[in-house]
Amino acid sequence: MRKGIIAFATAVLLAFCAPAAALAKPQSDTVDPKGKMVALTFDDGPNANTGRILMVLEKYNARATFFVQGQSVKRYRAAIRKMDELGCEIGSHTWNHPNLTTLSASAMRSQIRRTDNAVMRITGEKPSLLRPPYGARNAAVKRIAGSEGKALILWSVDTLDWKTRNVAATLRSVKKGAADGAVILMHDIHAPTARAAEKLVPWLINHGYQLVTVSELAYYRSVDLRNGGTYRRITGPKRSAEEIPKPVAAAIAANGIKEP
Ligand code: NI
Repeated sequence: MRKGIIAFATAVLLAFCAPAAALAKPQSDTVDPKGKMVALTFDDGPNANTGRILMVLEKYNARATFFVQGQSVKRYRAAIRKMDELGCEIGSHTWNHPNLTTLSASAMRSQIRRTDNAVMRITGEKPSLLRPPYGARNAAVKRIAGSEGKALILWSVDTLDWKTRNVAATLRSVKKGAADGAVILMHDIHAPTARAAEKLVPWLINHGYQLVTVSELAYYRSVDLRNGGTYRRITGPKRSAEEIPKPVAAAIAANGIKEP
């Protein structure tokens, strides 16, 4: 239902305003543009642990961004559907996690396109974000990613959850790194990370953070995620409610949804 309203609002916006690209997609009726926000990001999945993280997000009405490996998408289609249903963002982490800087241009394109297609077959939406495996990128990676319609999303907080595999250490790292605009790197393939999520999601909320997707964070901080651009922490002028385009606000109001 909410998705329908947002889709309608977006359609109205497209009809009235030219700079549609600047409006990512505010998924939620609960975001305060002036409040603090962070983007939790989970790489390498989906796998058997992903569902547990999704349950935590659902419980707290929070969202995250999942940078998925294309090769796992079909097998865990239920998790992909759930991400979509919860308003989470699905980004690309390539098909099977190669270091993109070692690949030819056509191999890079294949990694990106196969993953796009796998995700689109389930959600109907093409990922607009790419997290290059190992954060490895060079001019060629940026150029190809850009031409495939992707912004490169790195991170500002590296929890090292893959290395410590420890709930307390992951939690400590998130608490230490939490700041408005932070993009926090974790991996949903590890069970301790899922257990850490059960603690860190309520901790962040109790400390005033709104858990939003990367694209939402960029939208509310007036950052245009450009194709081929590289992003870590995402900060910028806070969008005010008045700046949210009027046709969208009107469509939202008409449907009885509180303005973001
Ligand atoms: Ni990875």
